[in-house]
Amino acid sequence: MGKVENLCWAFLFLLITTLLIDNSFQLINAQSPEYYPVANLSTSWTNNDSVGTSYDSYPSHNLQRILVRSNFVCGFWCDNSRGACLFAILISADTYIADHRLVWSANRDSPVGQNATLRFTQNGDLILENGDGSFVWSTNTGGKSVSGLNFTEEGNLVLYDKNNEFVWQSFDQHTDSLLPGQKLGLGSKLTASASESNWSRGSFSLAVQYADGLVAYIESDPPQYYFKQYLENYLNATTTPYIQFENGSLNSFSIPPASAAQLQFMKLESDGHLKVYEWKESDYNWMVVADLLTSYIGDCGYPLACGKYGICSDGQCFCPKEANRTATSFFRQTNDRKPNQGCTPVIAISCDHSQYHSLMELHNTSYFNYGQLTYDENSNLDDLTDLEDCKKACLNNCSCRAGQFMHSWNNLKGRGCLLVSEVFSLVNTEGDLMNVSVFLKVQNPAAATTLASLPKKSRRVTIILGSSLGAFFGVFLMAAIYFFIYGREKEAKELYEIYLNQVPVMASRFSYEDLTTMTNDFSTKLGEGGFGSVFEGTLRNGTQIAVKRLHGLGQVEKSCLSEVETIGGIHHVNLVRLIGFCMERTFRLLVYEYMSNGSLDKWIFNKNKRVTLGWQSRKKIILDIAKGLAYLHEECSHKIFHLDIKPQNILLDDNLNARISDFGLSKLIDKDQSQVITALRGTPGYLAPEWLTLNITEKVDVYSFGVVVLEILCGRKNLDRSQPEEEMHLLSLLKRKAEEGQLEDIIDEDNDEMRLQEAEVIKMMRVAMWCLQSDFPRRPSMSVVVKVLEGLVDVETDLDYSFTTPRRIADAAHKKDGALGVATQLLPSALSGPR
Ligand SMILES: *[C@@H]1O[C@H](CO)[C@@H](O)[C@H](O)[C@H]1NC(C)=O
Ligand SMILES: *[C@@H]1O[C@H](CO)[C@@H](O)[C@H](O)[C@H]1NC(C)=O
Ligand SMILES: *[C@@H]1O[C@H](CO)[C@@H](O)[C@H](O)[C@H]1NC(C)=O
Ligand SMILES: *[C@@H]1O[C@H](CO)[C@@H](O)[C@H](O)[C@H]1NC(C)=O
Ligand SMILES: *[C@@H]1O[C@H](CO)[C@@H](O)[C@H](O)[C@H]1NC(C)=O
Ligand SMILES: *[C@@H]1O[C@H](CO)[C@@H](O)[C@H](O)[C@H]1NC(C)=O
Ligand SMILES: *[C@@H]1O[C@H](CO)[C@@H](O)[C@H](O)[C@H]1NC(C)=O
Ligand SMILES: *[C@@H]1O[C@H](CO)[C@@H](O)[C@H](O)[C@H]1NC(C)=O
Ligand SMILES: *[C@@H]1O[C@H](CO)[C@@H](O)[C@H](O)[C@H]1NC(C)=O
Ligand SMILES: *[C@@H]1O[C@H](CO)[C@@H](O)[C@H](O)[C@H]1NC(C)=O
Ligand SMILES: *[C@@H]1O[C@H](CO)[C@@H](O)[C@H](O)[C@H]1NC(C)=O
Repeated sequence: MGKVENLCWAFLFLLITTLLIDNSFQLINAQSPEYYPVANLSTSWTNNDSVGTSYDSYPSHNLQRILVRSNFVCGFWCDNSRGACLFAILISADTYIADHRLVWSANRDSPVGQNATLRFTQNGDLILENGDGSFVWSTNTGGKSVSGLNFTEEGNLVLYDKNNEFVWQSFDQHTDSLLPGQKLGLGSKLTASASESNWSRGSFSLAVQYADGLVAYIESDPPQYYFKQYLENYLNATTTPYIQFENGSLNSFSIPPASAAQLQFMKLESDGHLKVYEWKESDYNWMVVADLLTSYIGDCGYPLACGKYGICSDGQCFCPKEANRTATSFFRQTNDRKPNQGCTPVIAISCDHSQYHSLMELHNTSYFNYGQLTYDENSNLDDLTDLEDCKKACLNNCSCRAGQFMHSWNNLKGRGCLLVSEVFSLVNTEGDLMNVSVFLKVQNPAAATTLASLPKKSRRVTIILGSSLGAFFGVFLMAAIYFFIYGREKEAKELYEIYLNQVPVMASRFSYEDLTTMTNDFSTKLGEGGFGSVFEGTLRNGTQIAVKRLHGLGQVEKSCLSEVETIGGIHHVNLVRLIGFCMERTFRLLVYEYMSNGSLDKWIFNKNKRVTLGWQSRKKIILDIAKGLAYLHEECSHKIFHLDIKPQNILLDDNLNARISDFGLSKLIDKDQSQVITALRGTPGYLAPEWLTLNITEKVDVYSFGVVVLEILCGRKNLDRSQPEEEMHLLSLLKRKAEEGQLEDIIDEDNDEMRLQEAEVIKMMRVAMWCLQSDFPRRPSMSVVVKVLEGLVDVETDLDYSFTTPRRIADAAHKKDGALGVATQLLPSALSGPR
């Protein structure tokens, strides 16, 4: 009986495994359909086959390709979380692998859903319709003799006629981005999205106007300008003004020239910055290479640099405070944890009670744009040449919310009064030569809110009563407001403090001031990453340290806490040690031991250093990484998945001992839990294929480790565009060479010692291949890898060479479009605490 049962189970197990293997085999060998860059009349496409991978920068977005040419894809771009899709153009370093970035869309304000269709009609109109047939958008080119559709090398979607003349082109229909070669002409504008996650038109625009040239403004009544620049081509009577994004420039702005491939784009961000992005192969990411307006107006010159009513001072945000008031304030931070979201009046300003309005004058402060704008053109009150008159004008006009008066300075022209009806950010001007006075309208606390609405005859009584009752009531109200607002803030702050104090105490908390001293005012920068910069410093006892200063909020908060939680409590010779951290106001800093030889990528991808890095050192580095990972996976009180193993995150000390660093993406897992389901994260090129099914176990780190080992042995990147096409993907090359029995061909040939040790290197390559098995249960655990490296165990002989290349991951994802749905069966993550 028992035997039969066992047999049954064994059979079932075999069946399931076969099915699984078979399934993954199909996934990996899936052929991607062909895409064309052109289309004929009478063609239509339905949004019913969303191809997808999700990326860290765009979690749960899908792409259904329609037209593809070089670095551009045109198709349906869907945000699965909202079920909303755009007919869009995206740019990507490789249309199959990495991050796609949205550069144009037809319907940003009215997204479509599943089953929406794009029809290129017989009479030459391109029409976007919802699944129910309702009209959304069209090019309005019906009857204009359109003969075809072409998606050009530049990423321009073109409708042309028989003479090959352009009838319509996407380059003329601006959204928030410009591509190289694209123009923004007179009367056109870029309009930023409402937020990073909301495609709709937001409030920032960049436009070319006749009178002012290039301008940037925020929507308000009237619009408030933060940048103006005359265009040289405006002065030429034979041409109309325009700006054009060219290789190396945008009119008088200079831009770092693009590397060979056309992989730059410019975007007006939802915070008003105009940034140029370039694909950097070395970082495998889109990096900002220019922030064009900032060099003119500074970080504080943006209308929402510190949100509404926020005062920007060297990138820090504060709320306005009247110099002579200390106990109470008219403004409070809108979001206690995010000073850059601005301030809110404690009592809303109401036109019904204008008798309680007063003006609060701020010292050493100006409105965000004072340096950019001259008063003559923007002031509605030119003739008011006195601060008091300017103030009076504001008090007498209900819609005025703030004003600024520029005193004449050194007898120069430019004095004047500026009133605004919506208050954006302010700037600290301490030490500045301009003499500006800024005042904000505030509502004084008033108990007698009912006074005005009462009939005349009862007023007398009310006034008498009011003066005593009102005083009492006013005090009560103020106290209530105070407790409500500050009490809650305090509670949240306390909880946060308690939480931080519970973090294991191996890491110390530093104050920002301490760290400023230790790093000599952040004077020596060691490096720069996605989340922040790293500076050199020295502890009081003389120990050298590296201080990582994180920028931004949200994701940074998460990654900072994750890092403190993960390595704050553990200590291992192959993990970089977190000495301390600082979470004070908006500052987020992490303090590590100093690793004098920098990161591994600098050694293995650099020809000169590679020559010095001999076989023994490489072997030791591989063993160090393996030990560090084995410790994380198996020896701590929690299991820890690192999830972002790559050479950039392996640091080397004086003696080339390797330590794993950067735990910003890591996950703590309960010991009895074997897998976790989490959004796709990590770095393309190092991601294991099972990310597609979101079945995340520690084996994803084993896979990334395999890639790193291979890179160390071959002295090149997994994806290396400088190689000929057939050798670009190291994993495909490895598969081929393994099948041909020619593994020695791919060993780093710049290093003699590596070639002399061919047999040993190939043995190590087999360890890497074992770790790279697509079928993740077949990969060894890290403790087994350590044993192999120490010579205690042998590599499995029966290896499957179908390693997954990045392109295949994308194809597999394409076929497996239901995969993302799995994410809804979330296993509880062991991480808790404020996120
Ligand atoms: C367009 O039509 C021509 C002939 O009329 C045909 O050869 C070509 O394959 C068509 N192109 C596409 C993308 O369907
Ligand atoms: C999508 O729609 C097209 C045209 O309506 C149809 O030919 C195709 O089979 C559909 N694809 C899927 C996956 O349903
Ligand atoms: C899309 O069309 C398919 C097949 O016609 C249908 O099953 C599905 O419910 C439709 N989806 C939506 C969102 O209308
Ligand atoms: C489409 O554009 C490309 C350049 O991007 C050009 O070489 C090609 O001739 C164009 N095709 C048509 C049909 O106009
Ligand atoms: C996106 O922004 C627009 C404009 O600000 C707003 O009306 C809309 O509600 C926002 N949509 C979402 C989903 O937040
Ligand atoms: C004006 O533009 C025309 C045509 O682009 C050019 O030939 C001419 O030199 C320009 N004149 C000046 C003063 O820049
Ligand atoms: C941009 O210009 C630089 C030098 O000025 C050149 O090396 C590079 O190839 C150009 N890029 C493109 C895309 O034309
Ligand atoms: C504070 O200063 C303002 C002028 O900026 C003045 O009107 C007000 O009376 C002062 N308040 C106190 C309590 O001194
Ligand atoms: C009141 O101020 C607003 C904004 O500054 C301005 O547009 C409007 O013309 C002013 N109204 C009067 C009556 O002055
Ligand atoms: C304004 O700044 C100057 C120095 O730049 C300082 O002397 C003065 O006290 C400041 N005024 C106020 C009110 O803070
Ligand atoms: C600014 O101008 C006012 C009026 O002219 C003058 O009273 C004040 O002293 C000036 N302040 C500075 C800092 O120059």
